Amino acid sequence: MTTPLLKLSGLGIRFGGLVALDAVDLTVAPSTITCIIGPNGAGKSTLFNLITGIYRPTSGTVALQGDPITGLPAHRIAARGIARTFQSSRLFEDLSILDNVIIGMHGRTRTDVLTALLRPAKSRRELEACAAEAETILRGISDELFARRYQPAGILPQADRRRLEIARALASHPKLILLDEPSSGMDDRDTAALMADIRRVMADNPGLSFLIIEHDMRLVAELPDNVVVIDYGKKIAEGDFATVRQLPRVQQAYLGQKAVEHA
Ligand SMILES: Nc1ncnc2c1ncn2[C@@H]1O[C@H](COP(=O)(O)OP(=O)(O)OP(=O)(O)O)[C@@H](O)[C@H]1O
Ligand SMILES: [Mg+2]
Repeated sequence: MTTPLLKLSGLGIRFGGLVALDAVDLTVAPSTITCIIGPNGAGKSTLFNLITGIYRPTSGTVALQGDPITGLPAHRIAARGIARTFQSSRLFEDLSILDNVIIGMHGRTRTDVLTALLRPAKSRRELEACAAEAETILRGISDELFARRYQPAGILPQADRRRLEIARALASHPKLILLDEPSSGMDDRDTAALMADIRRVMADNPGLSFLIIEHDMRLVAELPDNVVVIDYGKKIAEGDFATVRQLPRVQQAYLGQKAVEHA
């Protein structure tokens, strides 16, 4: 059996008296898409914060390609190959689209302030290489974003902002990309385009996997290889969407939310 890309074992965190996540086991294989679903407040974003080192777990372990990364600081985990986007867009609005992608390379590049001052030619060469690579990444995501690469990111509509965030995540050369509700604020057409983007990125980057928190059940029905359901901090179901959505405990968790029944 091949080593899983990501393996969570008994992962949990408490905030005072609240158990936000309780003993979650999860395995992600290379070149796969996993969707995390569950009602509001279930603990989905908390799971991402544990995997990426924003929170330290109070129990359990996280392993990336068999190496323990539990409790490492966020920048070390990012450097190991886990990139993410946030539930609310976090672009540098005043910087250009291209610069927002280049920022994603931080952690990989060697140019620091001292090198820039003492070895200007060297750091300029490195910056030029970064810009060239950022252009390639943008072109791979969207011809339109590439054409507008010198414009400020702040002018982009919602769907293109999400796209740019994925481009920025790709710039860190990740093995795993975590997307927190990428389709929020998108209409049907944008969501279909987002799915096509993700599939294209997967095809262009062998081995790369996605872990995606989603509320849009059309996306969850179509895109992932595996669906994981979280409710009150616990993993209550896992499998393909057609099977998972029929389970009484999943229906129960969504009672009043209607989302699963209407997919
Ligand atoms: N830093 C924190 N301190 C205290 N409680 C927290 C903290 N972070 C998250 N929580 C709590 O943990 C629970 C899970 O929150 P989380 O944001 O992970 O939910 P979610 O599944 O992402 O919900 P949504 O679908 O609304 O985004 C909530 O009750 C939340 O209030
Ligand atoms: Mg959330």
